[in-house]
Amino acid sequence: MNQVNTMAFREISVNDLQINPVTLFSDGWALLTAGNKASFNSMTVSWGAIGEIWGKHSLFVFVRPQRYTDEFMQKSDLFTVSCFGGTHRKELGVFGRKSGRDCDKYAETGLTTETDGDAVYCADAEMIFICKKTAKTSLEPQNFYDDTIEDDCYPAKDYHKIYVGEIVKILVRE
Ligand SMILES: Cc1cc2nc3c(=O)[nH]c(=O)nc-3n(C[C@H](O)[C@H](O)[C@H](O)COP(=O)(O)O)c2cc1C
Repeated sequence: MNQVNTMAFREISVNDLQINPVTLFSDGWALLTAGNKASFNSMTVSWGAIGEIWGKHSLFVFVRPQRYTDEFMQKSDLFTVSCFGGTHRKELGVFGRKSGRDCDKYAETGLTTETDGDAVYCADAEMIFICKKTAKTSLEPQNFYDDTIEDDCYPAKDYHKIYVGEIVKILVRE
């Protein structure tokens, strides 16, 4: 059994969140991690959203189908989003450029992981969202109202999958 180890972190509720929900992702960057202690993968994300759907506090991430992390997203009931608030840019650059198929990104960068039950997150982050997968859908080009999206973002037709997760725990650095 994985031990719950939240030594450097304390748990807060959604009501205690003091974040800018846009810049949390776009400027702050985050690591999306799926899998379990025995086998997991992480990648950098700067697209994401937080809100409510189906009466559940939820987090949305956008994952292109060719990402190795997507294989873990498909298999895992849980995923985590470890938010950095703009720190660790160099390390997150590696996680956003290299694939876990080809290398151990944690060994290369020196970032470390921690577990909370079956969930794996990055212990160097400022805030962690532990999420239980609730839904997945894929973007479809015929549904874009803005033509620039297809031209600007999908020359390879690799439309993002949207994963929705219920936020089951939030940890913040002490
Ligand atoms: C700043 C930044 C933000 C990124 N955001 C996303 C994202 O939101 N969704 C996505 O699919 N890829 C995103 N990427 C690309 C992945 O992180 C990158 O392809 C990574 O190497 C995938 O790793 P993997 O194959 O180990 O899953 C981003 C990359 C960077 C540098």
